[in-house]
Amino acid sequence: MHTVTVDLGERSYAISIGSGILDRLPGVLSQAHMGGPLALVTDSNVGPLYAGRVRALLSEYEVHICTLPAGEDQKRLSQIEWLCGRFLEGGLDRGSGVVALGGGVVGDVAGFAAATFMRGIRFAQIPTTVVAQVDSSVGGKTGVNHPLGKNTIGAFHQPSAVLVDMTLLETLPPRELCSGLAEIVKHGMIADPALFDYMEKNAEPIVRGDLAALEWPVVRSCEIKADVVAQDEREQNLRAILNYGHTFGHAIESATRYTRFLHGEAVALGMICAGQLAVDARLLDPESARRQRDCLRACRLPVAWPEGFESPAAVDEAVALMKHDKKARAGALRFVLPDRIGHVVQRADISREQVRKAFEALRQMPAPTRAT
Ligand code: NAD
Ligand code: GLY
Repeated sequence: MHTVTVDLGERSYAISIGSGILDRLPGVLSQAHMGGPLALVTDSNVGPLYAGRVRALLSEYEVHICTLPAGEDQKRLSQIEWLCGRFLEGGLDRGSGVVALGGGVVGDVAGFAAATFMRGIRFAQIPTTVVAQVDSSVGGKTGVNHPLGKNTIGAFHQPSAVLVDMTLLETLPPRELCSGLAEIVKHGMIADPALFDYMEKNAEPIVRGDLAALEWPVVRSCEIKADVVAQDEREQNLRAILNYGHTFGHAIESATRYTRFLHGEAVALGMICAGQLAVDARLLDPESARRQRDCLRACRLPVAWPEGFESPAAVDEAVALMKHDKKARAGALRFVLPDRIGHVVQRADISREQVRKAFEALRQMPAPTRAT
């Protein structure tokens, strides 16, 4: 088992990562001083698979299972009110804890409910998607969407413990698994050329579901994220690098009503746009942008608009929506751009026209014509 520490003084916590380690949950929760009664928050896909097992492991506690319907549209304020109602009915108090069992949606919603219930109670994360294992369960960003912008209502509330059991990914649909690989490639692009190289070389077994091949990139991603969060918990500056590809990606998700692309797929498209923007701004060499595109494609992620997609309308709406991006300051958009594989810079001098042009990178390349 690997342990990665998120070093935040008295709010430090451990991320335990391994294969078949779910049984360690009682020890992990007691080390994290989680008291009962506990709320186990999950969704309608994950609950039937794993909530019974988790409840059995937690026989020492009174456990109230709260099941949200699965899906991004559950990330809304009304679900926080519903969850807090369940917590009150279950007799949770300031000493109680919330355990999030699921993907990023469950983690973000359960975390935000824990952040606000009784002005904040402890919570733990058992992430069951790749997105959640390498990104959303770590770092304490919790929250919900507003119709005008994704993740615009939320709180920083660090978990007290994170338990990553790789075997929970065995039931994850392949498209969801690939979606999470975008966040790993992102970590490689922003901070670690060796991680990027590994993903280039091992994408094939990973997309086939080889969880042993996925373990090191999960550990490395958690290390990278933990390091950034420890330096800049509240995103005063450095933490914004974790949003590489997300300014474009969030706009694409919003413009397509969160229905067309999975989160990681939108982030992959966003990284293609950011890579093109970096090439156009003469920050990045075209060969590195090509490697990024090929790596994402090898991870079975989209690197262009799907055929027949009305991209001009989506681009107009996406550019308009970017003004709600949390990295925008006084109306100026800020972008995280790579200047080489494994390193990024932040730029606030990008014009709307450059942004619009970057979306051009998503146009379907015409199929090569055959020589006659
Ligand atoms: P998700 O939570 O919607 O899960 C994806 C789907 O997989 C759902 O249908 C879920 O029910 C199902 N599922 C989850 N685990 C499963 C398993 N083991 N077996 C079978 N099915 C399973 O999506 P996600 O990709 O995990 O997370 C995306 C969300 O995370 C977005 O809302 C995004 O904004 C958020 N996010 C937050 C942060 C953060 O720092 N807080 C970081 C990245 C992403
Ligand atoms: N997912 C970006 C962050 O946690 O800051």
